[in-house]
Amino acid sequence: MTDVFGLSHKDASPAKDATPIQPVKHEQVVFCSDERSGLNAIIAIYSTALGPGLGGTRFYPYESEQAALADVLNLSRAMAYKNALAGLDLGGAKAVIIGDPAACKSEALLRAYGRFIQSLGGRYYTACDVGTYAEDMDIVARESSYVVGRTPEHGGAGDSSILTSFGVFQGMRAATEHVYGTSSLNGRRVGVEGLGKVGHRLVDHLVEDGAEVVVCDVSEQAVERVRQRHPSVEVVADTAALTAADIDVYAPCALGGSLDDATVPQLKAKIVCGAANNQLAHPDVEKQLAERGILYAPDYLVNSGGVIQVADEIEGFDMARARARAARIFDTTLKIFEMADVEGVPPGAAADRLAERRMSEVGRLRGIWLGR
Ligand SMILES: NC(=O)c1ccc[n+]([C@@H]2O[C@H](COP(=O)([O-])OP(=O)(O)OC[C@H]3O[C@@H](n4cnc5c(N)ncnc54)[C@H](O)[C@@H]3O)[C@@H](O)[C@H]2O)c1
Repeated sequence: MTDVFGLSHKDASPAKDATPIQPVKHEQVVFCSDERSGLNAIIAIYSTALGPGLGGTRFYPYESEQAALADVLNLSRAMAYKNALAGLDLGGAKAVIIGDPAACKSEALLRAYGRFIQSLGGRYYTACDVGTYAEDMDIVARESSYVVGRTPEHGGAGDSSILTSFGVFQGMRAATEHVYGTSSLNGRRVGVEGLGKVGHRLVDHLVEDGAEVVVCDVSEQAVERVRQRHPSVEVVADTAALTAADIDVYAPCALGGSLDDATVPQLKAKIVCGAANNQLAHPDVEKQLAERGILYAPDYLVNSGGVIQVADEIEGFDMARARARAARIFDTTLKIFEMADVEGVPPGAAADRLAERRMSEVGRLRGIWLGR
């Protein structure tokens, strides 16, 4: 296995029997290393067509540098599409720090990482992701001006799940408008899988709008918190019970991959709309959903409220402005369902097309010379 960080310049040409590295479409991929602090990071900028690339920093004990590289390349591309659809003037990027955050996260490592971000001159803005928290971003920000997702004490946006759940709710309203002709969830039965930071807040929105809510979570504590706030909420044992339940909307808000060859045939809901990233276990699942007449609201569109919230820090955080921007997820979701119908493609493909169109049409304007 090639150790990317271990390569000297002399070693860097691929061995004859090595698998050829596929050319990437990314604008820039940067390997950052600081031996003393133990920093091994990769920053991938997929596109700056709409502005500086924004995407979080994942701190994770990858099995190999190849696994980390594959992850950061995929995640940075996904951020370009998410930011484009969210209407942000931001491109797509992401970073990974290789290692177990519990064992090797330190002030020196985070600050070394911050200096590498700073060295990119604003082409990359970072934020929190798996394994990194707002407090970590405060430390990274001591070395770099290009950090969002900081704590409110440092001008940050705070917990991004506030607008993530709000955005998912907007996407769900658009889906019910498309299917039932009304954007109200009043009287609909909604199944929420996962009652963490996003899921429990989504339940608040749903109950407030008059929906009947059915939930499940592997954590008894998470279930209890929701039951305390909303005694009317029905609890089922697990995901299998939830997908088989008599519900109108299924909202996956736990881990990715909850829609697969086993769950889709069971599903009674007419709509899937939730916060979890990568809900479809494989690309064919969207076709299976369409064949069963189930409307799928693309995950990266409806869960973009969080990135909208943290991106607002670049202008100086204002919750009212960020919330107004996240409310537009309703219109974008409706537009994508309409495009999907007209073009005869699944909503996921329509969402990709709309994102690509914006990157191309707005990105092209940089070619207009502004004079000196
Ligand atoms: N937090 C955000 O702002 C944000 C933004 C975009 C996307 N997302 C995505 O939304 C999802 C939820 O995020 P979160 O921040 O609420 O995470 P979280 O860790 O706070 O909550 C996840 C919850 O899911 C539960 N869970 C795990 N496995 C489960 C299972 N098999 N069945 C039922 N429940 C299960 C956990 O016990 C936990 O309560 C994740 O996929 C995340 O990537 C979150």
